[in-house]
Amino acid sequence: MLQGQVALVTGAARGIGKAVAARLQAEGATVVINDVLEAELHGVMAEGIGSDAIVADVSVRAEVQAMVDRVVERFGRLDILVNNAGVEPKASVLELTDEQWNRAVAVNLNGTFLGTQIAARHMVARGGGGRIIQISSIAAKNFLPNCANYCASKAGVNGFTREAARELAQYGITVNAVCPGVIETEMTAAARANPAMMEKWMREIPAKRLGQSDEVAAFVAFLASPAAGYITGQSLNIDGGKVPW
Ligand SMILES: NC(=O)c1ccc[n+]([C@@H]2O[C@H](COP(=O)([O-])OP(=O)(O)OC[C@H]3O[C@@H](n4cnc5c(N)ncnc54)[C@H](O)[C@@H]3O)[C@@H](O)[C@H]2O)c1
Repeated sequence: MLQGQVALVTGAARGIGKAVAARLQAEGATVVINDVLEAELHGVMAEGIGSDAIVADVSVRAEVQAMVDRVVERFGRLDILVNNAGVEPKASVLELTDEQWNRAVAVNLNGTFLGTQIAARHMVARGGGGRIIQISSIAAKNFLPNCANYCASKAGVNGFTREAARELAQYGITVNAVCPGVIETEMTAAARANPAMMEKWMREIPAKRLGQSDEVAAFVAFLASPAAGYITGQSLNIDGGKVPW
């Protein structure tokens, strides 16, 4: 389905990003993986996922620019960007430090902006067409305890996605945000180890189970595919029915 296409997936050393990279590759795309965790990233390559691995911090413009330049130099083009890298520094509103606030905004929101802008400039310059998919969160739309910084950054991702989609549609570029619910990854490991939290989730999630990274990856692969060419500007939940809007 994605033969001949070149994809870049950020935060792909583990979790959802790794699953997305594996899925896009299985669909035929040439996939470049990125993360700040160098050893883990090369471990993913060693598993056969990814044709190149680039260590870069998505919150730093020069590093994102160099990463996109390297993809284009090495593989000739960039067709699909998945802005997946994310962090969740937890604290209550009363206790949040500037560092925790700024980190969430820098990686989740600024990283999404930088990737989108730099990839879109390339896509427009080479004649248009492309897919940009943000991994946002249902936290953009709903309550998540001790995560005001994370919720704000992800709500920003959804707003940015809507506007970027409107501006980039004329170039044949779609921009959508996928909003996962509770997915079994490192990010939710501590909460999943808490029986009271698991009980709460089982009450709140109509599907009565947590989600898997490969389910998110399948959704991303659909949005990256030619079948999804008329879907843009959307923030779409994949959460077992937890948030009904
Ligand atoms: N797990 C969930 O329940 C869940 C729910 C909703 C949204 N999400 C979102 O999905 C995405 C992936 O999360 P995950 O659950 O796989 O978490 P994870 O912590 O397992 O993976 C996130 C990856 O991003 C990388 N990363 C962090 N900062 C980076 C930076 N500055 N530059 C490059 N890479 C960086 C990390 O090293 C890590 O490998 C995140 O954006 C997260 O907010 C996750």
